Amino acid sequence: MQQEQILKALSTVQEPDLGKDLVTLNMVQDIAIDGDNVSFTLVLTTPACPLKDMMRIACEKAIRSMVNANAVVQVKFSSNTSSNRSDSGQVLPKVKNIIAVMSGKGGVGKSTVAANLALALSQGNAKVGLMDADIYGPSVPIMFGVRGERPMMMDVGDGDKAKIVPLEKYGIKLMSIGLLVDEKSAVVWRGPMASSAIRQFVTDVFWDELDYLVIDMPPGTGDIHLTVLQTMPVTGAIVVTTPQDVALADAKKGIAMFGQAQLKVPVIGLIENMSYFTPAELPGNKYYIFGKNGGKKLAEEFDLPLLGQIPLVQNIREGGDSGVPVMMSNDDVTRAAFISFAAQTVRSISMINAKIDTAKVAELVS
Ligand SMILES: Nc1ncnc2c1ncn2[C@@H]1O[C@H](COP(=O)(O)OP(=O)(O)O)[C@@H](O)[C@H]1O
Ligand SMILES: [Mg+2]
Repeated sequence: MQQEQILKALSTVQEPDLGKDLVTLNMVQDIAIDGDNVSFTLVLTTPACPLKDMMRIACEKAIRSMVNANAVVQVKFSSNTSSNRSDSGQVLPKVKNIIAVMSGKGGVGKSTVAANLALALSQGNAKVGLMDADIYGPSVPIMFGVRGERPMMMDVGDGDKAKIVPLEKYGIKLMSIGLLVDEKSAVVWRGPMASSAIRQFVTDVFWDELDYLVIDMPPGTGDIHLTVLQTMPVTGAIVVTTPQDVALADAKKGIAMFGQAQLKVPVIGLIENMSYFTPAELPGNKYYIFGKNGGKKLAEEFDLPLLGQIPLVQNIREGGDSGVPVMMSNDDVTRAAFISFAAQTVRSISMINAKIDTAKVAELVS
């Protein structure tokens, strides 16, 4: 077998989302050939790529059918997380993607979704941070069991003043107003103080290198949202909704806000939370308490990807209250819903970064 033959075979294999072949996308590296053995590395656009197995199988097939029927193919994976950062790198220069998790309405599970998304991405080997931008109602300290803990200051040695080091828990970096001031005091701040706190989260916190920074936004569409969008190069927004009509109406406002010409933040997709309830003793039953498929219909209406449907589960609520989010538990059914959501999210982001219409994110091929 020759290297050129291998490359030719691999140039017939498509990256399913990006719609181009692996060779054109420069994803193939380190081809090594030894008799019937061939190995190479595929460089993915995200460490949490859900399409690995599919691509490995397609590569094996192409090489066996086009080059050598007896080939023993070993595909290794590495990643270089894609980014659409085109700013000159002043703001958070080492953060590749910034994901704003928002909702029109409070209490739809934004913080729960943001926290478990961050953990699912991290468990897929990405470097992840979670910024709690809900200045008036921070949830991160309780959800991560770090109430009362205070971050340290560190001289990061770039001639700047000392920076705040985010807390680390369960493998992700955390920052919340609740970690800096007494929880009751931020509640009485006026708008400008809250906005300046957000700006400090960006300029004074040492986030360092991250593949994904997840921002848990306050409910609605107010000043803090504008500050976040004007201060940070946000890659895209995830809109959380429940299937209920009132939540859907508010979600539409959120979609409209992000779509405004002067902000122009792409919507990564919608996530429907509290989609149905399944009692532990009747695992086959689904009860659509808040209505059925409201998020799905909204996604269709706006031509946006539906990133997932998360059930209403007691473990999710208990995990949030006890400081051990459900992604850190052994509830594998619920974890699977978040893992699939994270997978669809990184696919949609990779497509945004490659300037491909995210409405084309297909159902995961299993
Ligand atoms: N899918 C779910 N199943 C059960 N409880 C949930 C679910 N999503 C959120 N909750 C609970 O609902 C409450 C509100 O969720 P939260 O994430 O704080 O909402 P928001 O940030 O939008 O205000 C919390 O007690 C949380 O644990
Ligand atoms: Mg919240």
